[in-house]
Formats: sequence, C-alpha cells, structure tokens
Amino acid sequence: MTHTILVTGGLGFVGSHFTRSAYDAGMRVVVLDDGSGGPPQPAPPGAVVVMGDVADTSLVSGLIRAHRIDTLAHFAGKIQVGQSVLRPGFYFAQNLVKSLALLDVAVAEGVRAFVFSSTAAVYGQPQAIPIVEDSSCAPTNPYGASKLAVEHALASYGVAHGLRWAALRYFNAAGAHPGGFLKEAHEPETHLIPLAIDAALGRGAPLTIFGDDYGTPDGTCIRDYVHVCDLADAHLAAIDALHAGKAVGAVNLGSQRGFSVNEVIAACARVLRVPVPHNVGPRRPGDPPVLVASAERARRVLGWMTRRADLNTIVEDAARARYQ
Ligand code: UFG
Repeated sequence: MTHTILVTGGLGFVGSHFTRSAYDAGMRVVVLDDGSGGPPQPAPPGAVVVMGDVADTSLVSGLIRAHRIDTLAHFAGKIQVGQSVLRPGFYFAQNLVKSLALLDVAVAEGVRAFVFSSTAAVYGQPQAIPIVEDSSCAPTNPYGASKLAVEHALASYGVAHGLRWAALRYFNAAGAHPGGFLKEAHEPETHLIPLAIDAALGRGAPLTIFGDDYGTPDGTCIRDYVHVCDLADAHLAAIDALHAGKAVGAVNLGSQRGFSVNEVIAACARVLRVPVPHNVGPRRPGDPPVLVASAERARRVLGWMTRRADLNTIVEDAARARYQ
C-alpha cells in the first residue's frame, strides 16, 4: 500500500537511506531536517524537503495537513554517547522533549503510525547474548536513556491515543547505498568502520583500538554491524505491519552475528588491499565487551532479516560511498 511519510532527519545517515528506499518503493516522502547532523545527504528528486525543527508544532501540523501524512518516521536526534555524558540536558531536550512535541502533533493530526529510531544503547550492559527485547533496559548513558524515555512515551501514547508505534533498536548501523551517493558522514566521525577506512587510505590518523584486553576471543570488543540498506528495509516492513494493525513495539535490528574490532580491521585491509595503520589504546569508558542482537523478534513480527550481513559487503559499500 502507498503511504505518505514524514521523515524527520531524512538528510542524515539512516534517514536518507530510508527516504531513498521508501521513494523507490513508491511511497510519497516529505523530509523534515534541521541540517544539524553533518553534511546533508541528497534526497530523491520527487521528495519534498523542508528545513526546520521537529518541535516546530505549527510547521509540522501544516506539513501533515498539506501532504496528508499518514505515517511518521522519526530519525532526527543526537547520537554521540560521549557528548551525551557531558551534556545530558541537551540530549534529553533534543531527543525526548522534541519527540514529545512531535508525538503531540502527530496524534492531534490523526497520524496513524509512528516509527522511531531507537538504539541498542537502551540495554546498557547486557545480561545475556544475543540480546532479546524483553531483557532489562538499563542504559549507561544519557543518549540511551533519552531514547528509552521516548519508547516509554510511545507505549503511553499507544494506550491513550491508539497510536500504532514501532521502536527500532539499531545495533551498529554501517555500510552505505551501493550506488555510492549516500553515505555515513558524521561530524566529528567517531564510528569504527569509517575511521578504519580513513586510516587505511591515509586520509585520517591511524586507528586506535579502544582496548584489547576484553574477555572476547581476540580481546577486542564485538559488535553487530547492520547494513544501512537493511535498516531501511526494516522500517518499510514496520510501516506495513503497523498499517496492517499489528502491534510492533520494540524490535532489535541486528544480524545476530558479531565481529570484533580486529575482524573489522582485517576486513577493511582485505577490501581496500592496504593495511590499516593502528595502535592499541585504553578502553573507551562505557563500552560493553559484546553487543549482539537476537534477530528473532524482527523475523517474527516484521518478517525481516539482514540480507547484506557480509562484513566485506558492508565495508566495500562504506568505502565506495566515502570516497566516491
Ligand atoms: N572503536 C575503536 N576505535 C575507534 C572507534 C571505535 O576501537 O576509533 C571500537 C569501539 O570501542 C567499539 C567498536 O569499535 O567496540 C564500535 O564502535 P562505534 O563507535 O563504531 O560504535 P558503538 O558500538 O560504540 O556505538 C553504536 C552507535 C551508538 C549506539 C551504540 C549502541 O554508534 O549510537 O552502537 O550500542 F549507542
């Protein structure tokens, strides 16, 4: 079915990939972005792009009415864990308070489905691997806490207003569109794969491995890297499920397979055919040793699983887009 979707943060990394996928799937797309998430990624020619704030209630209600929006995909938000520890107020204001303003307008204007970009950071230090959605959520930083608070609000708005909602808990978003025209471009970049690519190609400093004394097979941290195009597909599946009347709720988006920092470095060297200059530094505070998703609920509720889980593919796509 065709939907008309308001995509907040649609010029950012994951939002721009979703916008492209939704557009390619025949949806009508209106992007709302404030341009604060690094270099804006291009929107497809048929998408409407509006520069503005998600908490500008008159702007948002005007857009919902003018374009007959039936679905909100809310990607806009701040994502730096370290910054959130230093500036918790900013993170709760940006991620929670602005989401509440958006939710209020959405329910007032009769939007039926709301898909929210959540994060594996809601879990904190996991008790068991792979992580299932009903594990206890005990975020260890304000970033994760602010995202979890929005999840709680969604559940309450569901009860009070009948809003259908999905909170998609991304594990490590990575890769890029294979066409090379959309990419991960955070400022500053803090993520492992782009930094390893930059180091390999001599366009950045040697990579520092944040600790190699963890209790993992090679001593470095293990993460569940998910191709951003797979993330985009999961959002489309969630929108379909919500409009079909399914209760979606919180769903992990991961591959149920983890790679260590050393394995990522080896994949970058293999794909780029050059070594990745690196050194070993101290642990980064707050890094859990292993974060790997259970992908079972996503399969059951959304019929979704990763299709681009191969690490070489993820690195190849990321590298092509980074230096296209
Ligand atoms: N790492 C390094 N050196 C670097 C950068 C990262 O060794 O220069 C390591 C990290 O310690 C970690 C792994 O590479 O073990 C991945 O780190 P990223 O910074 O790429 O990603 P994170 O796992 O820290 O964070 C990601 C998202 C967060 C989200 C989190 C959920 O970026 O927004 O997953 O757990 F909160």
